Amino acid sequence: MDPSQWIDVTVDKNHYSLDHFVIPNHYEQDVSSILIPHGVIMDRVQKLARLIVDQNDGPLVVCCILKGGHQYFADLVNCIKKLTTAHGQSVPLSLEFIRVKSYQNDQSVGVNISLTENELKDFEGKNILIVEDIIDTGKTMVALLERLQTYKPKTVKVTSLLIKKTERSNGYIPHYVGFAIPDAFVVGYALDYNEHFRDLDHICVISEHGKKAYAV
Ligand code: HPA
Ligand code: MG
Repeated sequence: MDPSQWIDVTVDKNHYSLDHFVIPNHYEQDVSSILIPHGVIMDRVQKLARLIVDQNDGPLVVCCILKGGHQYFADLVNCIKKLTTAHGQSVPLSLEFIRVKSYQNDQSVGVNISLTENELKDFEGKNILIVEDIIDTGKTMVALLERLQTYKPKTVKVTSLLIKKTERSNGYIPHYVGFAIPDAFVVGYALDYNEHFRDLDHICVISEHGKKAYAV
């Protein structure tokens, strides 16, 4: 996707104050600002679904990258199900799940992909759409794509709700991106910090208090 097509929330420093929206009170000390309110996420997911359906041809294997991708995956699949192409065709979907783990505290600790050979064999000859929560360094996605290619899918496209603008990026850009975000650690909408904050609806910047409270 061309960067002109995604929403850049790094441009103006207009993060929302915690007072402007409802935050579960168990997280009040642990986030410093709201970067993307839940309603804006939902509206953007609708548009991404529209773009994906408009550019799709035939059945699609939608592949969720667990755990962080699950909320975006669920909302995106819901939107895609309700849409049809310009020719009135709905998109036949099948759903797959891949577990990837690469972060401890706010540091990348190398990529660990759990996939059974049986799951991978199902990809042969299929159009795959990978659904990820965030592209940070890009290392996880490049490693995953390499691994998938050995199973000969027909096409592989990637959508990530977020892409982080960071000097540590390897330059990887997905086909469909929701928002570009600043180089800060974000949580909420299923993005976690050591498994916490997945139960927060908005995408927020974690506070120093939050990093300490949930460090391992
Ligand atoms: N938040 C949550 N998970 C992540 C992030 C982030 O900022 N970057 C990579 N994985
Ligand atoms: Mg994660």
